Amino acid sequence: MDHSRVMSSTLRSRIMSAEEAAALVPHGANVGMSGFTGSGYPKALPQALARRIEQAHVCGEPLRIGVWTGASTAPELDGALAQVNGIELRLPYQSDPITRQRINAGTMEYIDIHLSHVAQFAWFGFLGHLDVAVIEVAAILPDGRLVPSTSIGNNKTWLDQADRIILEVNSWMDPAMQGMHDIYYGTRLPPHRKPVPILAPGDRIGETTFHCDPNKVVAIIETDAPDRDTVFNPPDATSEAIAGHILEFLGHEVRRGRLPPELLPIQSGVGNVANAVMAGLEEGPFNRLTAYTEVLQDGMLNLIRSGRMVLASATALSLSAEAAKLFGRELATLKDRIVLRTQEISNHPEVIRRLGVIAMNGMIEADIYGNVNSTHIRGTSIMNGIGGSGDFARNAYLSIFMTPATAKGGTISAIVPMVTHVDHTEHDVQIMVTECGLADLRGLSPKQRARVIIGNCAHPSFRPALQDYFDRACRFSPGKHTPHLLDEAFRIIQPR
Ligand code: COA
Repeated sequence: MDHSRVMSSTLRSRIMSAEEAAALVPHGANVGMSGFTGSGYPKALPQALARRIEQAHVCGEPLRIGVWTGASTAPELDGALAQVNGIELRLPYQSDPITRQRINAGTMEYIDIHLSHVAQFAWFGFLGHLDVAVIEVAAILPDGRLVPSTSIGNNKTWLDQADRIILEVNSWMDPAMQGMHDIYYGTRLPPHRKPVPILAPGDRIGETTFHCDPNKVVAIIETDAPDRDTVFNPPDATSEAIAGHILEFLGHEVRRGRLPPELLPIQSGVGNVANAVMAGLEEGPFNRLTAYTEVLQDGMLNLIRSGRMVLASATALSLSAEAAKLFGRELATLKDRIVLRTQEISNHPEVIRRLGVIAMNGMIEADIYGNVNSTHIRGTSIMNGIGGSGDFARNAYLSIFMTPATAKGGTISAIVPMVTHVDHTEHDVQIMVTECGLADLRGLSPKQRARVIIGNCAHPSFRPALQDYFDRACRFSPGKHTPHLLDEAFRIIQPR
């Protein structure tokens, strides 16, 4: 390496190998790492640390750490550390299969937090002390400021709070990204908070680089490695049908005068269905779209490239290998139309409410009254985490939840009598969509909601069983406001 990305002469002397840097992380440390939905995570240190942990465990020495991030990372971070049982506690969102397995086996503690809450929890002192920050950057400027890479997440907070900082300077990151980021340094703790001055999705209110106390930097590792590729399936008939219902609904809202022709800023969740909805918008009638979202996936990038979307604010890119190449090639023109912010601002309730965001998120299951489970399988096993879905759902102008009507080859209904775990209550869910149809729950009582959810969203093979449950609940439930038969609410319903 020619060290050209480490422009600070003071900090150059701290360049070392990943193995040397990993030796600086002690047992029991809380480590704040960069990384958000497979982008901008440190690529060398976690693997070197995993090797050290493995050796320590062979020798019977304790070596486990707490891992705090922005959101999900990649096999080189979560996967490597979970594989060697090196994570004592993980927060706030993960989607790694080995990590998931450890959490569900009870060998890793996991705290699932609204993503907008993480930084303030750290500042309030609710999470304990942050010992080390491990942050990937695109470059270190001569004055020590840091050029962010492809995600921002909680990096600002980790850099400010940690006692010691390890930087990974990744020369794979295009230095031309400099200028795309907006790091807000105006956040204060209550009672000294001021309004967050974002009045439109593209408003820039901060700085383009991170500040960093050079005295805290104990190691710099140079890398040249790509982000994890996010693999998206091409939209299938189910996700196209879901997207179709949403587009029709948005058109209807425009005709009723409840949305402007260019809609309101869009938030699009993670996964294939969310990506398919963006693909649908590409075909649809709406122009001059904007996004105030958390993650920018392929579908949204295509909307920006085609000119349908004029601007997107997010905290991270999450692109397939092909989209990442396009992004790199067209960076000069895309840069002015994408703003990457800290996740406390990309997901800020105040801003989401002010802008009137249209939030679209995936779910695992919903019940007939509109409560949504986004995180748990059968009530006890975590899938990923709540991510930013609660930040957006609670504060959005329109809160949409979507899912295929069935899972596991049609054997499990996504619409159930009572969800086995609640992430979003009936009060935060306005529109529910499956490939079977869309339920507009606004202004409806619980029993009215049950009728449209069963009628519009449940799969026909499960509809009779759900209707039967609801009818009997209406007759025999002691309370008639939200009728339930609690002794059978969680029994698995069978397709007919
Ligand atoms: N019962 C059992 N398994 C179910 C299920 C159900 N009701 N619903 C889904 N699953 C399983 C699927 O079969 C699939 O399993 P597999 O990985 O073994 O194939 C898995 O859960 C994921 O389901 P899929 O339909 O592929 O969903 P997705 O990729 O669209 O993701 C969520 C759906 C809910 C998991 C995802 O959106 C999520 O993690 N949401 C929470 C965070 C969030 O919303 N973030 C966005 C904020 S910006």
